[in-house]
Amino acid sequence: MDRVVSYIEQNKQRHLDELFEFLRIPSISSEPDNALHVRECALWLLDNLKSIGIENSRLMETPGHPIVYGEWMNAGPDAPTVLIYGHYDVQPVDPLDLWKSKPFEPVIRNGKIYGRGTSDDKGQVFAHIKAIETHLAVHGKLPVNIKLLIEGEEESGSNHLEDFIHSHKDMLKCDTVLISDTEWFADGLPSICYSLRGISYVEVLVTGPNRDLHSGTYGGAVDNPIQVLAGMIAKLKDEYGRITIPGFYDDVLDLTIEEREGFKKLPFSNDEYCKDLDIAGGNGEFGYTTLERTWARPSLDINGIKGGYIGEGAKTVLPSIASAKISMRLVPHQNHHDISEKITSYLNKLAPPTVKVEVNSLHGGNPVLVPRDSKGVTAALASLKSAFGVDPVFMREGGSIPIVNVFGLELNAPTVLMGLGLPGDNIHSPNESFAVDNFYGGIKASAYFFDEYSKIV
Ligand code: BES
Ligand code: ZN
Repeated sequence: MDRVVSYIEQNKQRHLDELFEFLRIPSISSEPDNALHVRECALWLLDNLKSIGIENSRLMETPGHPIVYGEWMNAGPDAPTVLIYGHYDVQPVDPLDLWKSKPFEPVIRNGKIYGRGTSDDKGQVFAHIKAIETHLAVHGKLPVNIKLLIEGEEESGSNHLEDFIHSHKDMLKCDTVLISDTEWFADGLPSICYSLRGISYVEVLVTGPNRDLHSGTYGGAVDNPIQVLAGMIAKLKDEYGRITIPGFYDDVLDLTIEEREGFKKLPFSNDEYCKDLDIAGGNGEFGYTTLERTWARPSLDINGIKGGYIGEGAKTVLPSIASAKISMRLVPHQNHHDISEKITSYLNKLAPPTVKVEVNSLHGGNPVLVPRDSKGVTAALASLKSAFGVDPVFMREGGSIPIVNVFGLELNAPTVLMGLGLPGDNIHSPNESFAVDNFYGGIKASAYFFDEYSKIV
């Protein structure tokens, strides 16, 4: 491994330059007009994989954005196979005026690379690619077989990946899935994540009169869809912070005492948490701590609300339509289809007969718990320790990677969530960043992982 580490040291600048090229391509997957940039990014990645010796890499089409797939199977049939999953697509960048430097012109400030996708997930997935490059360049081979599955639709719900995996089970057969798309618990504290929340994302449209009305002529006699919608939304949670959708908690797996104790041992301060957010206090489901609320309890948030006049000045209008986007984060063993159905019928029930309600499901993914005692996790613990010099901790995450659950079901292989991001990375926000040290350390951790895993299995 000495030669591996010195190769990584010697190639630091070039690896960073390549990551910058990757980051400059605005691969926002959710904006239909941007599809060509997403494809350009996939093609760039494909070139990079070919250049490091994954010669059979190819784009694989889906009804949406393409998947970049490649494999290196020369470790032979007796060696284990590691499937690396990541995503090359990124979130939208708005509000643009809050960025200190342009989202697709990466720069380094104070040891961090700033730009959209730096941490989520281009920087993290690229660390693995450079680790593979390193093994191939130094030894001409890897101690494990590698498959790379890098998708372009994670940030818009991985809508086509489940079918893809289902129809390519043989191609994707592996002993473990390795993913770096999560964050550490704290700076300097490498972490392995063992649970992600799922998601059910719906849009609700409330229609009242068939056209916008004069609020003087009609106001007081006709239901206003914005007010109806606001009333419906207000009923979605009770005074104890519990979600009121009938049956919502039916399948929620309770936290064990051991887990609650484990969470308490992590270095977390509620005061610091609130200070960082500039809020007077947290709020949520009664009887649970902040970590429990975000990691192991389901949540419901209004992500956007639309209706009526929002331009300059005043307009006296009683609008015809109002809508809201609502996402619910789910925990084991809730099912996103079941929850989407439950919220749909509840919203219909909450609405008065004077309006029409339409609920559309935008995307969904199931929550997941991955084993903490798999061989992959054992290898990841050792690799993070070797690369960063600190013993990793176990944590859960409130965010979602919708496809992780599908890997377990379809490929029957455990997933290892060896994240490289930091809590202050501002993923999905302006000024997203990725610590330069985590990029280089991540290349090392991944390079160690291949070695460790080959020895254990
Ligand atoms: N990398 C994130 C998942 C994540 C979020 C990890 C927070 C650690 C902390 C992932 O790319 C993501 O953001 N997923 C989306 C999925 C959604 C669009 C279906 C999410 O969680 O919002
Ligand atoms: Zn991500």
